[in-house]
Amino acid sequence: MLKIAVLVSGGGTNLQAIIDGITNQTIKNTQICVVISNNAGAYALERARQNEIDAVCVSPKDYGSRDAFNDALLAEVQKYNVDLIVLAGFLVKIPENLVKQYEGRIINIHPSLIPSFCGVGFYGLKVHEAALARGVKVTGATVHYVDDGMDTGAIILQKAVLVEEGDTPEILQRRVMEQAEWVILPQAIDMIANKTVTQANEKLITLK
Ligand code: GRF
Repeated sequence: MLKIAVLVSGGGTNLQAIIDGITNQTIKNTQICVVISNNAGAYALERARQNEIDAVCVSPKDYGSRDAFNDALLAEVQKYNVDLIVLAGFLVKIPENLVKQYEGRIINIHPSLIPSFCGVGFYGLKVHEAALARGVKVTGATVHYVDDGMDTGAIILQKAVLVEEGDTPEILQRRVMEQAEWVILPQAIDMIANKTVTQANEKLITLK
């Protein structure tokens, strides 16, 4: 059984896709042990509670320094003894201590086809604004392992989504979620849980 922690900051539709995947068994042999948010008001925490999953807030506002927050976040994750940390719309830069401790065991969903529209400053709607401003005809989403850079870890899965005439950043964001994020994040977790992902080297993942 793969035990996971899901880290979130907002609405939690990706979290919901994982919960649904476990319920309908498209994700097998996986259990969500805890949902952690940096934001006490995140609706994602409510989704966790409704599904009887531990819901915890670890907010930087409650700590005197960034280091103290980083330590608290690591301590909270460690309590649950998880095999994998899933960043599902977690808007905090992952502290170095967490990356070190969980090397090769943290994945993230990013709403573009990496290496386009990723890295510092590319989060939320900004990603889709940049894609539309550049005039790309295809965008999508990426699930990747987290290393000490920003969106630089090995890519596990990607899915393309067409940009359509008249798209706004909001419309495009929704289509990318529906057609790509909610599909490939559950799929990647299932693949990790059932050992069909092998890391060949720092950047290359092979899929069975
Ligand atoms: C998603 O677009 C995700 O790719 C991005 O933040 C958004 C989170 O949405 N990193 P939700 O909280 O899962 O609804």
